Amino acid sequence: MTRPLMDTHGRLHRDLRISLTDKCNLRCTYCMPAEGVPLLPKQELLTTEELLRVVGIAVDAGVEEVRLTGGEPLLRPDVVDIVAGISAMEGGAGPVEVSMTTNAIRLPKLAEPLRRAGLSRVNISLDTLDPDRFKQMSRRDRFEDTMAGIDAADEAGFHPVKINTVLMPGFNDDEPVELLRWALRRGFELRFIEQMPLDGGHEWQRSTMITGAQILAKLRTEFTLTEVPGRGAAPAELFHVDGGPARVGVIASVTMPFCGACDRLRLTADGQLRSCLFARGETDLRSPLRGNDDPDEIVDLIHSCLAGKRPGHGINEPGFLQPPRPMSAIGG
Ligand code: 5AD
Ligand code: SF4
Repeated sequence: MTRPLMDTHGRLHRDLRISLTDKCNLRCTYCMPAEGVPLLPKQELLTTEELLRVVGIAVDAGVEEVRLTGGEPLLRPDVVDIVAGISAMEGGAGPVEVSMTTNAIRLPKLAEPLRRAGLSRVNISLDTLDPDRFKQMSRRDRFEDTMAGIDAADEAGFHPVKINTVLMPGFNDDEPVELLRWALRRGFELRFIEQMPLDGGHEWQRSTMITGAQILAKLRTEFTLTEVPGRGAAPAELFHVDGGPARVGVIASVTMPFCGACDRLRLTADGQLRSCLFARGETDLRSPLRGNDDPDEIVDLIHSCLAGKRPGHGINEPGFLQPPRPMSAIGG
């Protein structure tokens, strides 16, 4: 009988988020400074084989869902093999569900193969419908490629395609209504994410952050929103739009934290396990994987990481310190 992945605050953990690479083909201002961030040395990244081995151990220990993130996960040349390997695993609740958060740029090539490999869902980041704004916010001229990637996801049958949007004051904070109209027209589920203090440039400021409440107020000028009950461990608070079935979500990580229901663990591309996006400590799984490779030792390390999980992220407490790694190296 395996020990449940329970932390000291009574939270059962089922979800593993894995950053496949810290590289990215965009430079979103809320994530990276213009010059990028120092990249992890290649020899420190888990290989395909190491990654699948550690995920297999985590699944045997109780993980039921895996989300692949980055950086940009589609920049990993072995991404299709990774998806195929994980989706072939059996967890306690049946086959492991594999989803991905991506900027979509490589989806025109990869949506079909990923679907065939067993990927179940995609969350695509899109902050604006205006090509010039896109270029400003992501510092790259890739709007058309992103839109082509979104079309490819839709055509490959990832339904509903979920879109993640971060609103930034002075850049796209006047766009939520237009974005939602577009998402409704396309049959996508849009989710607005509050900007979190995870930018590589350490420039986040509470005073300039657009809050979930502000976003809802803007949407309510044009739409009737009614809360969808039964949120569970999901970060997004969901609303039916104009009576449903279409939905929109708000992920108010900063102003309305949902840490009490968190069921997530995170693995970085270089094999460090984290109990929270905002954790300051990490548990090294790469050394034991490359060392005596004893699955029981790795399970013990997963439990010791969980044992140190704090009840909340602490962003709203005095003395909060942003984690040393940026979002692009932890995975969203
Ligand atoms: N705050 C909120 N969301 C962020 N993302 C990246 N950096 C931040 C941040 N500092 C989003 C991306 C992507 C998801 C993984 O997280 O837009 O959709
Ligand atoms: Fe790349 Fe995502 Fe960071 Fe944008 S938010 S720079 S797409 S990792």
